[in-house]
Amino acid sequence: MKILVLNGPNLNMLGLREPGIYGSQTYDDLVSFVQQSAQELGLQADMRQSNHEGELVTWIQQARGTADAIVINPAAYTHTSVAILDALLAVNLPAVEVHLSDVHSREPFRRVSYCAMACQHVIAGQGFAGYRTAMQWLKENHPA
Ligand code: DQA
Repeated sequence: MKILVLNGPNLNMLGLREPGIYGSQTYDDLVSFVQQSAQELGLQADMRQSNHEGELVTWIQQARGTADAIVINPAAYTHTSVAILDALLAVNLPAVEVHLSDVHSREPFRRVSYCAMACQHVIAGQGFAGYRTAMQWLKENHPA
């Protein structure tokens, strides 16, 4: 099973960025964690990050026919992007939204998610482990 793992803006700044919220591990550490977790689960993960909404939209569109499922941390675009929501609806692949932090216990605007409307499951507040939980959930609920 091939999983496209997408990460939105500022996640490349992990380690430097608000470590009290996002921890001290870097984006490269996250890539290693996701690849290791995918291997242990018997999955293939294609992990990408972009600061550009349109690039994320293009990658979601390209997932049709090339990936079996999507894990997405849309970062700030979670709370604003109808374009990412529409792309997820268009490709109609099983999708899980992940957040490192517990978005539900932060500022009220972080409780709104456009992307979640196209996702079967949302995981927040588990840190890196949330990506593993998301891949495991997809494996159990949508075997390819
Ligand atoms: C985030 C939460 C978002 O609200 C924020 O804009 C991010 C990261 C998270 O992983 O906790 O950039 O998606």
